Amino acid sequence: MTKTLNYQTSKTMSYHQIKDFEEYQQVYKRSVDDPEGFWADVAESFTWRKKWDTVLEWNFEEPNVKWFQGAKLNITENCLDRHLKTRGNKLALIWEPNDPKEKFVRYTYRELYERVCQFANVLKKNGAKKGDRICIYMPMIPDLAVAVLACARIGAVHSVVFAGFSASSMADRINDAECSMVITADALNRGTKQIPVKRIVNEALEQCKTVKKVIVVEHLGWAVQMTEGRDVWYHDEVEGVSKECPAEEMDAEDLLFILYTSGSTGKPKGVVHTCAGYMVYAQYSFCNVFQYEESDVYWCTADIGWITGHTYLLYGPLLAGATTVMFEGVPTYPDAGRFWQIVDKFGVSIFYTAPTAIRALMGAGVDHVLSYSLDSLRVLGSVGEPINEEAWHWYHIHIGKERSPVVDTWWQTETGGIMISTLAGVTPMKPSHAGFPLPGVQPILVDSDGNEIKDNEVEGYLCMKFPWPGMIRTTYGDHERCRISYFSTYKGLYFTGDGAKRDKDGLYRIIGRVDDVINVSGHRFGTAEIEEAINHNKNVIESAVVGYPHDVKGQGIYAYVICDKMPENIDNLRSEIIETVVQQIGKIARPDKIQVVSGLPKTRSGKIMRRILRKVAEGDTSNLGDTSTLLDPDIVDEIKEGAL
Ligand code: WT7
Repeated sequence: MTKTLNYQTSKTMSYHQIKDFEEYQQVYKRSVDDPEGFWADVAESFTWRKKWDTVLEWNFEEPNVKWFQGAKLNITENCLDRHLKTRGNKLALIWEPNDPKEKFVRYTYRELYERVCQFANVLKKNGAKKGDRICIYMPMIPDLAVAVLACARIGAVHSVVFAGFSASSMADRINDAECSMVITADALNRGTKQIPVKRIVNEALEQCKTVKKVIVVEHLGWAVQMTEGRDVWYHDEVEGVSKECPAEEMDAEDLLFILYTSGSTGKPKGVVHTCAGYMVYAQYSFCNVFQYEESDVYWCTADIGWITGHTYLLYGPLLAGATTVMFEGVPTYPDAGRFWQIVDKFGVSIFYTAPTAIRALMGAGVDHVLSYSLDSLRVLGSVGEPINEEAWHWYHIHIGKERSPVVDTWWQTETGGIMISTLAGVTPMKPSHAGFPLPGVQPILVDSDGNEIKDNEVEGYLCMKFPWPGMIRTTYGDHERCRISYFSTYKGLYFTGDGAKRDKDGLYRIIGRVDDVINVSGHRFGTAEIEEAINHNKNVIESAVVGYPHDVKGQGIYAYVICDKMPENIDNLRSEIIETVVQQIGKIARPDKIQVVSGLPKTRSGKIMRRILRKVAEGDTSNLGDTSTLLDPDIVDEIKEGAL
């Protein structure tokens, strides 16, 4: 029973890496029997200015979750400073531009450290200080990674807004967090398109009173409109600035960042992550899930604007001292072989992407893959949405050559890091199944009354019954919203919003959201949020949005709209509605189908029967179930006939 566990996988650092299934079972058991002892052991390997007094304090009623209280640290000392001695000349970041003809950029740990320090000094010089919220709206360029770390260095709270969001979305996020500064760039490249980033910021800031400074990084060399006294160019500010910047000492539970995500109601909420717990969880999960080794070249294709980019492009790999690749472009430009070309170019050994990209590339045909060797690959990952078996097998066979394990990683913005996943080559792997929980993660399935379903071969609502260090602490500025969204549906549990199955061996398979959240190409939207955007269109009186199965995106957006009068030209109306949504949220939330209807199926109490709308959108009108409680049952026939 007592086997000595060999944690020391690197000469210089302990990754607490689990190496075989038996060890997983032992470690998992310990993490449940003695969670505090387990996480304290993991945390030992980090650099602390001062160690914690208590490991964990918690209740899921308020909720109140505090990890490593009393500890003092700075996450960037763990991402950068502690590597300088042993990995100073190792590559930390490789950046590949949108256009393969342009030159890539490489920073060693030493260079990244210096750039982060300089950027941090520029932030300070412009008035930023600990606790300030800073909005980052930037292209996928090295300066984005540097800016994020620079905020963390000085203890400012970063709130990265994905550069595909509209001015209006950005303004909402800036105002919610009362950001005092914005970091941005002139413009960005995305495939064949260029996007006027600074212009979008200018538009957003017309609605934001709290922003005092805008720091603009030059990327494409565009002439942009700068507001005197508010906007400064980074390259001017950085002249003569020191490459050393002492890290701000942070408390364990001080805010590290805010990241906005959609829920089933209202506007997106600011998920709050704090310094110590997030750090410990990011590195632990990164090293175990991907079975990271010192010589790996690691590439996560996510944008830093999403949680995947935060935890597994930036923080996780840098904490582990890995070489992380960052890509500005898209998978299909200049052609559908772009990802594989980059894999060969840098010798990528761990590759992490989303099912929507896999499905798109699968559709483009295997010829794009065959031109490349892909010999360097050793672990493949998937994230963001359920991966269907066809895509799983294509990925495993054509990319992994049946040699590399595929890890299907389930987690959420709120969980901070991967929760349920195969540990590559260590725990069992089964197509379309995320697998077993990570050590320290205690999932349970409950029925609609919140009773735990204990057996295997069951299906239920996925909840967590015990805290883990990377979990959400609050929703920014509104703790009650956090309680209601995640901790009130099932008493004493964190509710994920997902439905899941557990097979006979205890492996989890995630089915998808059970609330009014849809997942489009791995991006999360509340149906209410899209409806609100559509309703901004002057012709629209009311709308209802549902998701439907989409070959590439996973889910597509199907909108039913009621107009003030029957439009003469439906196509024009559709383009106008799409334009409204693009303005309100961004291109990523564009409805795929818009059906104009004269009414919606509502119950006598005025509630829309979404079940019916979902069935019609799925193209399955054979059995719509009981419609007798509808106010106007005839509307169902009209909707069925007009289905797209
Ligand atoms: C929702 C969270 C976690 C990073 C990206 C998305 C869905 C995520 C999987 C997976 C099935 C998945 C869930 C979850 N999801 N990963 N491997 N299998 N579904 O983060 O935007 O916070 O969305 O994405 O429905 O609740 P997010």
